[in-house]
Amino acid sequence: SKRTIVAMPGDGIGKNVLEEAIRVLEAAGFEANYVEGDIGWEFWKKEGNPLPDRTLKLLEEHKIGLFGAITSKPKDAAAEELAPELRDKGLVYSSPIVGLRQHFGLDICLRPCRTYKGNPLNFIRRGPNDTIEEPKIDVAIFRQNTEGLYGGVEWSNPPKEVHDTLMTHPKFKKNFGDVPKEEISVSTRIFTKKATERILRAAFDYAKDNGYKSVTVCEKPNVIRETSGMMFKMAQEIKDKDYPDIELWNTNIDAQMMWLTKNPENYGVIVAGNMFGDIVSDGFAGLIGGLGFACSAQMNPDSGVAVFEPTHGSAPKYADYDISITNPIAMMESACMMLDFIKEDEIAKKIRTAIAEVIAEGKVQTYDMKKMRGKPDVVKNGAASTTEMADAIIAKMK
Ligand code: NAI
Ligand code: MG
Repeated sequence: SKRTIVAMPGDGIGKNVLEEAIRVLEAAGFEANYVEGDIGWEFWKKEGNPLPDRTLKLLEEHKIGLFGAITSKPKDAAAEELAPELRDKGLVYSSPIVGLRQHFGLDICLRPCRTYKGNPLNFIRRGPNDTIEEPKIDVAIFRQNTEGLYGGVEWSNPPKEVHDTLMTHPKFKKNFGDVPKEEISVSTRIFTKKATERILRAAFDYAKDNGYKSVTVCEKPNVIRETSGMMFKMAQEIKDKDYPDIELWNTNIDAQMMWLTKNPENYGVIVAGNMFGDIVSDGFAGLIGGLGFACSAQMNPDSGVAVFEPTHGSAPKYADYDISITNPIAMMESACMMLDFIKEDEIAKKIRTAIAEVIAEGKVQTYDMKKMRGKPDVVKNGAASTTEMADAIIAKMK
């Protein structure tokens, strides 16, 4: 029987890139049914919920989701756009993609960044004697996706018990003095051993299965001793016990951002907490072409629920063009990660090869690849539309 995929286009360009990715999946011979999952701004405005229960049910049933992108706005702006009959209900907007991660415990986020040959956006650096070098990047970043600084446990004007605890912490008085609770905001950075072990093991397994020689823990253990420190210590134990042949490296997030512009080719698998994983993956994505190319998988290996999405958002600037002009490759690569997850290796390879060929040839390029800024005049500058890019990729598979 055919597999069913929950297709969640979301808002803006999310709809365009998902439509083209599905067309490519079909052209590559991937047989599936697609059911549409409602998500995003439209449903916030109409129903007061950007992540309706019926969408959660669909994912519970079918497990695998493809997600385009959503539009998010700050709390007050969100309240103003609600349908009039919903306005006095005290509804508070919260991001549906964060909601999906939390609801399904999608705690493993994988973001690979690999150089495409011939991509005009590739990072280049000056080598010795003024040579120009284009380092070949091949990294897989594992980001803990549910905890840490993005875990949502925070206060402004914290409750008395929290304030009391802070005041009795030996470092607090020493570093900040006596501060009334009204004058404090706290965002916690919680790492549990369970989730930390899961992301570390996911990273080591991936390194082992895919022939990477190193796993780099990218944190800041000398300063953030308890959380980063715990992660590095656990990494060392896991390596010693179960992955003796894989090298374990330790970098600080700040230094890592510098090293990735000097020698990005040195790194293989990278693993980090939620925020540092977010930062370092955007850094590497910039080196391989940026948002038009950055793909990701968010997975819960226990339940088998997984959602695949480009890193970019809904790009409202480009949503109201007559023809869609943004780059669908990030979405298509995310779809390939879905194929990896469900072990459709042949089809994934077929699509990736076609994408690589179109990029290397350089004849069909979306506006981002033409390095156009602002509101690009696509026709005049000969950039391809989203659909033309998909057509070129499909043509390569024939
Ligand atoms: P964005 O990623 O939507 O767009 C920023 C810029 O990057 C665009 O203006 C465009 O120049 C470029 N870009 C993005 N995707 C591209 C593509 N496929 N091809 C070529 N160029 C591309 O980020 P922005 O403008 O900060 O946020 C817009 C909306 O998206 C906001 O409402 C934000 O909350 C939401 N957002 C949603 C995300 C998600 O759904 N996971 C992630 C990031 C932002
Ligand atoms: Mg980000």
